[in-house]
Amino acid sequence: MKKIEAVVKPFKVEDVKEALAELGIEGMTLSEVKGFGRQKGHSEIYRGSEYTVDFLPKVKFEVVVADDRAQRAVEAILRSAKTGKIGDGKIFVCDVEQAVRIRTDERDVDAL
Ligand SMILES: Nc1ncnc2c1ncn2[C@@H]1O[C@H](COP(=O)(O)OP(=O)(O)OP(=O)(O)O)[C@@H](O)[C@H]1O
Ligand SMILES: [Mg+2]
Repeated sequence: MKKIEAVVKPFKVEDVKEALAELGIEGMTLSEVKGFGRQKGHSEIYRGSEYTVDFLPKVKFEVVVADDRAQRAVEAILRSAKTGKIGDGKIFVCDVEQAVRIRTDERDVDAL
């Protein structure tokens, strides 16, 4: 299993969610986060006003999928989150050792 973490622009939430749902992904976590990249938050326009602070609002998706779905999920996020402008975000992929559905004790891919 892989965990895909994607930090994207807040207005892209619906697009990314739909792109992932179209792949048949049934569970995901979304968090409101703040962050900065290499511009350190400067000169990036958010809702029409220029921020001069370091941390900008972003949203983070976390989705755990079977290995054979991971690349499709990455491509779906890439397509749906891209504007081509700075601050579009990042996608990180890492290995997941174990998953458990608490209600049923199901493990790993059965638990996703
Ligand atoms: N190395 C990193 N580790 C963790 N989070 C990061 C990292 N780089 C960026 N982020 C997160 O992603 C968000 C968006 O980053 P951003 O897209 O601005 O990256 P960038 O490298 O500056 O690329 P660009 O030049 O396209 O803006 C940041 O606000 C931060 O939350
Ligand atoms: Mg940046």
